[in-house]
Amino acid sequence: MPDRNLTRLTIRRPDDWHLHLRDGAMLRAVLPETTRHFARAIIMPNLVPPVVTAAHAAAYRDRILAAIPEGDTFTPLMTLYLTEATDPKDVRAAHAAGIATAVKLYPAGATTNSASGVRDFEKVRPVLEVMAEIGMPLCVHGEVTDHEIDIFDREATFIDRILKPLRKKVPDLKVVMEHVTTQDAVDYVRDSSKNLAATITTHHLIINRNHILAGGIKPHFYCLPVAKREAHRIALVQAAVSGDKRFFLGTDSAPHTDALKLQSCGCAGIFTAPNTMSCLAEVFDAAGKINKLEDFASLNGPRFYGLTPNEDTITLTKGDPVSYPAHIDTEDGPVTVFDPGFDLHWRVEE
Ligand code: DOR
Ligand code: ZN
Repeated sequence: MPDRNLTRLTIRRPDDWHLHLRDGAMLRAVLPETTRHFARAIIMPNLVPPVVTAAHAAAYRDRILAAIPEGDTFTPLMTLYLTEATDPKDVRAAHAAGIATAVKLYPAGATTNSASGVRDFEKVRPVLEVMAEIGMPLCVHGEVTDHEIDIFDREATFIDRILKPLRKKVPDLKVVMEHVTTQDAVDYVRDSSKNLAATITTHHLIINRNHILAGGIKPHFYCLPVAKREAHRIALVQAAVSGDKRFFLGTDSAPHTDALKLQSCGCAGIFTAPNTMSCLAEVFDAAGKINKLEDFASLNGPRFYGLTPNEDTITLTKGDPVSYPAHIDTEDGPVTVFDPGFDLHWRVEE
């Protein structure tokens, strides 16, 4: 039976390998949108101030655990924000105690709250060597920050200038290239023999740069790395639906209030937590690959992180178009939900 005839699909419960939950009122508002469908998530540490130490991560984890809606089961997998002052001993201890699952590398200035990130990569080499030794993955925001590099070329340039030399120096380090947006990144991951994987977001499987810029500027489609031209989006879809174990879901769901998005210098980030599984099912189904959704959303991620897949399952069904709220309300103001621009026919059975 061709995949397209399938109208019901049961998969292991998915995980989100790249998620922004923020803190305080925003955390309480957005967390249920993830715990509804996802069992675990890699939690980004770019709070203000950032989650740098094991003690910060443990305290943040407690705040997340306290905000989980009753009846939901959810495990936040914490990350440490890498700075040039990060202490390798603290990283080792955080990993050994099960407080931190990974370390996040932001090149300084690359994106939201990245000012404390890394400028001189030699300075963090001792941390990376400890991580390689203990098998702790490095999650990488792979964009150079040099002003003379065109924003659409910053990912490809990062691979050549930073990632290739870094992985040569510390070959045993497990690296996740986060939210890849280019054919170049897909090829680089495919060509590597080990210790490299990539997350792909929901929105980068759906939008290209025309969606942001043609026919009027659309701040709700602006994120970093910025969506590229259509050929790159197609390369991402091919990688995601291929079943290749090195590609898995990291939504990068990144809530900002409308007030922060809709201003002359608007924030980067797209909030996809509420409708991510519907969007993904639509993309995989359109590609005739709905049977690969489980690999992408539920199996490949835990495999790379050395964790077991979730035991329980979710069931998606295909039918009349399903609608989602245009925004969710938070005490800080409304947060707009990602609009894929087409009807969604798949829903997660509750
Ligand atoms: O679009 C983005 N938003 N990209 C990032 O790297 C950070 C994120 C955020 O924190 O808002
Ligand atoms: Zn992110």
